[in-house]
Amino acid sequence: MRIAIDGPAAAGKTTLARSLAQALGYLFVPTGAMYRAAALACKRGVALGDLDLQVREGGRILLQGEDVTDRLSSPDLDDLSSQVAVDSRVRKRLVEIQRAIAAGGDVVMEGRDIGTVVLPDAELKIYLWATEEERARRRHREQGGDFAQILAGIRRRDERDSTRPDSPLRPAPDAVVLDTTGMGPEEVLAQALKLVEERRAHLAR
Ligand code: DC
Repeated sequence: MRIAIDGPAAAGKTTLARSLAQALGYLFVPTGAMYRAAALACKRGVALGDLDLQVREGGRILLQGEDVTDRLSSPDLDDLSSQVAVDSRVRKRLVEIQRAIAAGGDVVMEGRDIGTVVLPDAELKIYLWATEEERARRRHREQGGDFAQILAGIRRRDERDSTRPDSPLRPAPDAVVLDTTGMGPEEVLAQALKLVEERRAHLAR
């Protein structure tokens, strides 16, 4: 089964995708981290044609053979990755890699365009949503810092990610929208597991 999880910034996609993949024994593919690694490559002056990105067990990201996973959540890469992601040449390259990974077996892939562009025929599509304020509160709890700045950053990224011409953020018509406002991660995982069960039962019919 290919499971696509899309949604706006800080909606909890990575947390859900990781725990769902673990629960099901599937490969976890964080495409947000791939765009962050592409942004890091850009900062380091790596030419797009030379970009070597690999996703390993547990969603670890190798850039030019180096494990850069622990560097990817820095706030400067929040904005830079969203800017790099507007470039169609970057998207084309990353989508190729993402499709090749999904062709290899069961995956839980999270991002912005998984259900719409990368895997339009995924067996299950979840669009994870929560209000801007709730998402900013969660980020603030995790990372600390200035709440108003975090909220503004989330708004800026959502605006850019959803208005770009190539693969804008939006729910696929056949995605299940999960409003997670007020929910904790365990409850979100339980709801997603229920959707997986329903989908499996439907596919077995
Ligand atoms: O999910 P994230 O915050 O780690 O993603 C970082 C940026 O990468 C996000 O602002 C937009 C971009 N992105 C994208 O355009 N398409 C994806 N499938 C995943 C992320």
